[in-house]
Amino acid sequence: MRGRLEMQLAVDSPETGHDLAAQSRPVRFPETAHDLAAQSRPVRFPETAHDLATPSRPVRFPETAHDLAAPSRPVRLPETAHDLATPSRPVRFLSPKTALEGFPSMRLHYNVPYSMNAGIVGTGAISHKHAQAYRNIGFRVAACTDINPASAQAFAERYGGVALASVEDICRHPDVDFVDVCTFPDFRLQPVRLAAQNGKHVQVQKPMAINVAVAREMIEVARDAGIVLGVASQHRFDDSSIFLRKAIDAGRLGRLIQCDAYVKWFRSAEYYSRPIKGSWAVEGGGALINQAIHQIDILRWLAGPVKNIQAMWQLGALHKIESEDVVNALLRFENGATGVIQASTALWPGYSERVELHGTRGSAIVTGDQLTSWDVQGDEEASIADPPPLSTGVASGASDPMAISLTPFERQFRDFGDAIRSRRKPLVGGEEGLAALEIVERIYETCRNPTA
Ligand SMILES: NC(=O)c1ccc[n+]([C@@H]2O[C@H](COP(=O)([O-])OP(=O)(O)OC[C@H]3O[C@@H](n4cnc5c(N)ncnc54)[C@H](O)[C@@H]3O)[C@@H](O)[C@H]2O)c1
Repeated sequence: MRGRLEMQLAVDSPETGHDLAAQSRPVRFPETAHDLAAQSRPVRFPETAHDLATPSRPVRFPETAHDLAAPSRPVRLPETAHDLATPSRPVRFLSPKTALEGFPSMRLHYNVPYSMNAGIVGTGAISHKHAQAYRNIGFRVAACTDINPASAQAFAERYGGVALASVEDICRHPDVDFVDVCTFPDFRLQPVRLAAQNGKHVQVQKPMAINVAVAREMIEVARDAGIVLGVASQHRFDDSSIFLRKAIDAGRLGRLIQCDAYVKWFRSAEYYSRPIKGSWAVEGGGALINQAIHQIDILRWLAGPVKNIQAMWQLGALHKIESEDVVNALLRFENGATGVIQASTALWPGYSERVELHGTRGSAIVTGDQLTSWDVQGDEEASIADPPPLSTGVASGASDPMAISLTPFERQFRDFGDAIRSRRKPLVGGEEGLAALEIVERIYETCRNPTA
């Protein structure tokens, strides 16, 4: 080992961050304290060459081989994503306590490259978007599984990693930093439990669960095990959502008066041909929980908690499903604003979803993933300092579920990885997923029992 290391140092011999940053190929470091101890001269260590290239924070590492070999003070290891992903003790979330507090740090950490290894459960349609986004941000698919082994095998061949037989195997795999659950919404609690038992962090696709009770249990399991729980809600990371969150905080829209979400989508008969689609047992419902939940999450994030709800639905208005393919809700937010949530998968040909916010100073409209209107009085100065990202090039799943952009996924996954690394809550953690689901469930309850 010593000979190999000396050779390696002779060849690479980077000793400073600048030297490392100048390397065009990966830098291999001595891997253990023992290896380091064998060095005859001090080796100053960063975590990775990437970190050195863009150090945004102090590097908290034993600084010399001598320190590691005979530490006179506690050595604060580990620092790799993998080590962090398998904590030997419960993770204490240092900060932030709320999603909003997390926002600035999320932006900051976009600039810090690092890698993480995902173990994907369910290799269907959305998992491909995940794998592509991971690749784009330097994460790796370490392992995958599916109840259809051929699907998992094909997925592994395409994106790398190993195809494993079960979720248990994924959760036990030493290379897996976090478990990424891309199955139907009725299969969430089990993988979260298994991940928790194995000290793995876990991210689940939306909706977080088929009902609020299960979602609460998932949060508890994750909290008790000290693992990070994330819920995919990628539109939170669209430029439009980010801008609006900041603009509302800064008072640019004034006091909110009316806040709406319209999801007038279309899904084909073929889409609903599998009996699980639109079923209460597997999907938890129809258009509201499966499609409009993105806009519900954004609306709640931007306009705040909902106080009162009235709602009406049509079960199977167009499609042969047991749940709603048309639903309308009237809302009163806790801040006094009123609003509408309208969701459908029955409206041919399907239109880009909209979130519309009206305040005392003006209006903002998000269409698909873009801010398409920003009509605000007296906003000239603020618009120079923080210009509204107005655009018309909308990406929307209005008629095609996979017509969605990768960029917000990439941002959300970076935020999730960073939450693991810095022991904070992700922007969309379990509580945030639950809050959106609570609105869904309250709308369903009101539809079932209109006089409640
Ligand atoms: N965020 C988004 O924009 C977005 C878009 C589409 C779908 N989704 C969500 O992603 C989830 C999956 O949807 P999809 O369209 O990829 O479905 P899909 O049917 O294409 O894929 C689901 C996969 O999970 C596998 N699976 C089912 N049970 C399993 C189990 N117990 N263990 C292992 N594998 C299992 C299935 O065999 C299938 O391959 C849903 O919750 C859906 O709402 C999110």
